[in-house]
Amino acid sequence: MKKLIIGNFKMNTTPSEFKTYAMTLATKARGARNNIVVCPPFTHLSLAKEFLSGSKVAFGAQNISAEESGSFTGEISAKMIKDLGATYVIVGHSDRRGLFKESDKTINKKIKTALANGLKVILCVGESLQIRESKQTQNFVRKQIESVVIAYEPIWAIGTGKTATNKDISKMVEIIRKEIEGQFSAKAGKNITIVYGGSVGLKNYKKIITNESLDGVLMGGACLDVDTFALIARENY
Ligand code: PGA
Repeated sequence: MKKLIIGNFKMNTTPSEFKTYAMTLATKARGARNNIVVCPPFTHLSLAKEFLSGSKVAFGAQNISAEESGSFTGEISAKMIKDLGATYVIVGHSDRRGLFKESDKTINKKIKTALANGLKVILCVGESLQIRESKQTQNFVRKQIESVVIAYEPIWAIGTGKTATNKDISKMVEIIRKEIEGQFSAKAGKNITIVYGGSVGLKNYKKIITNESLDGVLMGGACLDVDTFALIARENY
């Protein structure tokens, strides 16, 4: 089964280091069947465009501003990353929610801004799904949902070496699908892409990725080693 393999660099690597990483990954990813996405820091996105375009690897940002443009010093807009060729953006990572106090309201606005700019959203959720009800028409919402990937990342599992069990993951995935089903439609609940994140690495990826309730994985620490990331991304599941 084709899976979605996401790498979240967080605040790691320099642009020069990333350039080497991107060139290596582009080569290693040749012929891979899975969908592969890397999300390096903003400063690396133009290099991602340069070295990943035309390869099997898509790229995205780790965050965007909820605003379109204006007096928001230090912020980066959806349009800016889109212009650099980003197709994805991670929204609501627990680092953003916890360290930068992003509320569900802000996250909701960021999702809308990202989708309005044609980006696909990787929405990270922790213990529960709290998306505000959209006031858009059903079709529009369905379309939006199609562009959203939900990453279930138990906060206690991120960067700790501890992962949720497949039983726990399947249970939570089912809860998330039910919630989407209730809020939108049965089809949306069934079709939404859900990945798991939190200490996925060489030791445990196989067990987690082959969980049939999941569409893929999001890796933080493990994606930084290009050999590890490419190995996991290349495999047929
Ligand atoms: P980890 O990070 O794989 O290092 O646990 C996952 C994440 O925070 O996205």
